[in-house]
Amino acid sequence: MSDDQTPSVKLSDKQAGDSHESGAPWRNFYGRFKGKTLKPNQKVYLDQDLAALSPGAVGWEENPNRTNLDLQALFGGRDVWLEVGFGGGEHLVHQAIANPDVGIIGAEPFINGVATLLGKIRHSKCDNIAVHPGDARDLMDVLPEASISRAFLLYPDPWPKNRHHRRRFVTQEHLLPLAQVLKPGAIFRVATDIPDYVRQTLVEVPKAGFERLTVEGEDWHHPWSDWLSTRYEIKALREGRTPHYLTFKRL
Ligand SMILES: C[S@@+](CC[C@H](N)C(=O)[O-])C[C@H]1O[C@@H](n2cnc3c(N)ncnc32)[C@H](O)[C@@H]1O
Repeated sequence: MSDDQTPSVKLSDKQAGDSHESGAPWRNFYGRFKGKTLKPNQKVYLDQDLAALSPGAVGWEENPNRTNLDLQALFGGRDVWLEVGFGGGEHLVHQAIANPDVGIIGAEPFINGVATLLGKIRHSKCDNIAVHPGDARDLMDVLPEASISRAFLLYPDPWPKNRHHRRRFVTQEHLLPLAQVLKPGAIFRVATDIPDYVRQTLVEVPKAGFERLTVEGEDWHHPWSDWLSTRYEIKALREGRTPHYLTFKRL
């Protein structure tokens, strides 16, 4: 998203209930798909590596019947984790290296971020990552029910204006599908530097079938023991904002 939170792309103004020719529902997406021009090596990563890292058929054009992904074929029975909006992918690769027995799927529509992640995957040589270069909602449509054991939502777009709060990821439109694909007992981590995002998260996430594990105020300023600061967090700290780390358990 642009720094002033002005949407650079608004995909559609259609009302919910309408659908594309492929059957895909109209889903407004207010973030951005592309930023500055890709560097030549980033184009190479996208051309050469992205297809091989696909989790399977996610898009409506290629999977109009919304057949579930075959996670067994993808990761050979490993536990599967999900990172929504991985940005430049530093946290995702960090977790993949630290947890070789886990497969991690990342979803990120911003193609410059995807290209940055691909460069990191090349250099790390980890083989336990799959990448969906698009909206996490399309991915959650085709993840089997109760298939994911951990999910990360790290510094989601803050949408600070009151009238934009309904665009936040911590709304039932996003949280109910997330709850559906998480296993009972799965952990859901949310990091944010925006106090009002904390407020909305604490209200909306439990409504979607989660129990809060973080104790209010006490431990929510302490990062998780396996945490790696993301690019967005470094910027937030530089600008004097305070991180909050919230942990939930799927009931
Ligand atoms: C503020 S950035 C934070 C990026 C990264 N997690 C970090 O901490 O540096 C939020 C990211 O979420 C992505 N995003 C927004 N809506 C999304 C969606 N529906 N599915 C997946 N990613 C999304 C944006 O493209 C953006 O890269």
